[in-house]
Amino acid sequence: MDERETDTLTKTKTDSVWKKLENLSNFIGNTPLFDFSHLQKNPKVKIYAKLEWNQLSNSVKARAAYNIILEAYKSGLINYQKGIIDASSGNTAVAYASIGTHIGIPVTLCVPENASQQKLSSLKALGSEIVYTSKFGTTDEAQEKAKELSNLHPEKYFYTNQYANDNNWKAHYNGTALEIWQQTKGEVTHFVSGVGTSGTFVGTSRRLKELNPFISLIELQPDSAMHGLEGWKHMESAKIPLIYDGHLADQHLTIDTFESYDMIRRVAKESGVLLSPSSAANVAGTLKVAETINMGVIVTICPDHASNYPEILQQIQNV
Ligand SMILES: Cc1ncc(COP(=O)(O)O)c(C=O)c1O
Repeated sequence: MDERETDTLTKTKTDSVWKKLENLSNFIGNTPLFDFSHLQKNPKVKIYAKLEWNQLSNSVKARAAYNIILEAYKSGLINYQKGIIDASSGNTAVAYASIGTHIGIPVTLCVPENASQQKLSSLKALGSEIVYTSKFGTTDEAQEKAKELSNLHPEKYFYTNQYANDNNWKAHYNGTALEIWQQTKGEVTHFVSGVGTSGTFVGTSRRLKELNPFISLIELQPDSAMHGLEGWKHMESAKIPLIYDGHLADQHLTIDTFESYDMIRRVAKESGVLLSPSSAANVAGTLKVAETINMGVIVTICPDHASNYPEILQQIQNV
């Protein structure tokens, strides 16, 4: 193949990546706002949650993964040969795998060996390369592995590092927050959300506070290091994500895992919606806030759906 032919082929491939990214953008974000106001008695308090499973790969993480991949591609950090590597066995991994496979960028995930078989099967089906790390090292060791591999093979891997990548929180700054603002016609008074990488809380909060400095930002965390709120971090005992900003919230509240399980049961019965543990924990957080105000519009996020957690659904049925 001569140089001109190679150039044409590269350009065709590049154009097709752009087209695919553009097409995918129709499936990222723009999630509906669900009314949970009936869970409390005050008619002057409204509670809404964005049901984030209504987008590509069925979770909130489609937003961050898409923006991280888009910006890496724009900056020339990834291509057909040099893919992305990151540590995740959860929703981010599935989001990276879906987007990467669609646009033809290789995806490698460093995953603790005790990760859920269901998630691993999805990742394998989506064609991702999986690098196993020890089950004792949690995601901290998986992060170290991703960093090490990207240093050893810079020609093969770009380490996207969702815990330190500004394009994670910016996805919410430019997306989630503006959607909430439009969907509530600027009437949102409180934003409540738990933190994992903290991208959702940090990005959404920063933009909402710019739009209205009187909005109250309420950050939720699990009440202990040993918790069952998948996706959330107990910052006091965890490695703090670089994008986390502990001074952003006006108020910090904690949620107990069993409060969240009770809320899964309650919302299933009263609203006909099956929430995941972190979604139910966020809704529980909004009810705590509702008890302290006379009027207002409280908005939260439901990161994913209960169908991701069959073992928890089984467990709560037996109580
Ligand atoms: C189920 C679930 N809930 C909550 C979160 C927290 O979101 P963030 O990482 O934006 O703080 C995540 C993140 O992975 C998640 O997967």
